[in-house]
Amino acid sequence: MVEISYEAFGNKDQALFPRATQSRTTGLTESGGSGLDPQPEEKSVDEKFPKYSPETRLIHGKMVSPHWNYRDHIVPPISASASYRLESAARGAEGFLEFANPEFNHDTQSPIYIYDRLDEPSRGMLEERLQAAEGGGTCVTFSTGMAAISAALGVLLKAGDTLVSHRTVYGCSYSLFTNWYPRLGIRVIFADLTDIDSLTRLLEEDSSIMAVYGETPCNPSLELLDLQAIAAAVRPFADARPPRRRPFTIIDNTFATPYCQRPLEHGIDIAVHSLTKNIGGFGTDMGGAVIGPKLLEPDLLLYRKDFGGVLSPKAAWPPLVYGLPTLALRCRQQMDLTHQVAVFLEQHPAVDRVIYPGLPSHPQHELAQRQMRDFDGGFAPGSLLCFVLAGEAAEVKERGARFMDLLAQQALTITLAVSLGQIRTLIEHPASMTHAPVPAENQLAAGIEPGSIRLSIGLEKAEDIIADLEKALSQL
Ligand SMILES: Cc1ncc(COP(=O)(O)O)c(C=O)c1O
Repeated sequence: MVEISYEAFGNKDQALFPRATQSRTTGLTESGGSGLDPQPEEKSVDEKFPKYSPETRLIHGKMVSPHWNYRDHIVPPISASASYRLESAARGAEGFLEFANPEFNHDTQSPIYIYDRLDEPSRGMLEERLQAAEGGGTCVTFSTGMAAISAALGVLLKAGDTLVSHRTVYGCSYSLFTNWYPRLGIRVIFADLTDIDSLTRLLEEDSSIMAVYGETPCNPSLELLDLQAIAAAVRPFADARPPRRRPFTIIDNTFATPYCQRPLEHGIDIAVHSLTKNIGGFGTDMGGAVIGPKLLEPDLLLYRKDFGGVLSPKAAWPPLVYGLPTLALRCRQQMDLTHQVAVFLEQHPAVDRVIYPGLPSHPQHELAQRQMRDFDGGFAPGSLLCFVLAGEAAEVKERGARFMDLLAQQALTITLAVSLGQIRTLIEHPASMTHAPVPAENQLAAGIEPGSIRLSIGLEKAEDIIADLEKALSQL
């Protein structure tokens, strides 16, 4: 009988299975295993083939682990079992005891699958790949990007705590922070995280700050946050406070993808993703992921179990089989096209300015060069750009709407739609679409101009995208 005694980082007392007081009656031995025949020992792809590039390893994931054995598959199957057969009641009890238990070593011990909402293999394979791509201690996936953001912050914040968010964030993140967090007693301060001194002052003045949150590049302004500087500003406060009161840094890395930027390498604690975007890549499925320190894994799993925003195995499969293996290829091609489109727009008289981290005219181009790097160290400024039409402020919003109507009616290569990071080029007007939840009076302060237009470049030919843009611009 093995006594389980551990202090989970987070809400141990609220956990459905009060693990700290339970004892194990069967199974776990020093060498691992839980009553099943031992599975073949298999190192991770990263350990076994360290000389291969991360890009190659995104294609060749771990096909055998204590969680799954797909040794003979070239393509992993989609698992489809809502619940799992248990050999005995004791084994069921053991499975519950092991779930989200930091003393259970997922890398070496066979899991006892119970119910899809707790754990299952298709999702596990995707998590293993994403964790390696971002370089984190754990990855827990969710049904959408918003479910992932809610979970990452949900395990860190409780009533009485404060979240510091950058002033420009995706519209639904803004809505979460302003509509829901006040109801939960969580205070939100919108700050300018490009101003590191003011972030430090906030942290000095307010020990209730438990999370510092931002996106880089920001949606939709393409403004950048200095990852290293934010991590360095928060670190002394994290070190000085007791473990359960330490502030965490969280970056939404959706725009960049791990191909173009890996926040954890710059000292950030947690990266969150909408898998719906360029990681999924083909626009077929929704998903989200949290990648961060192993310490947070139990609480993230418990949160997912209880709030229920689980990524279905069928939605985990496309990013695993199509999205991640083609991520590098798609990103490289998209970035090449984005650069060509950005240069074209920058020279066009109907365009006031273009904001793209890859252009020397981007006010933080030097920062982009420093932190937006692909797996081989090459400059990787992403495939999103923002541009503002020329004209008086009063008329530019109306002109923007007309521009998008023209594209919607005439263009093959440019689709008027929300979302981003697909093989199709997508255009949208943030002020009236994705960022409509941000009140008009706050939009300007958040860098969302009435006339700014967001373009997510796909895989069409650059000449065709440019021809469609040219035709619509000439009709304004
Ligand atoms: C930067 C960013 N984060 C998060 C999300 C939310 O992702 P999802 O739609 O998968 O919930 C989006 C969606 O557009 C986004 O653009």
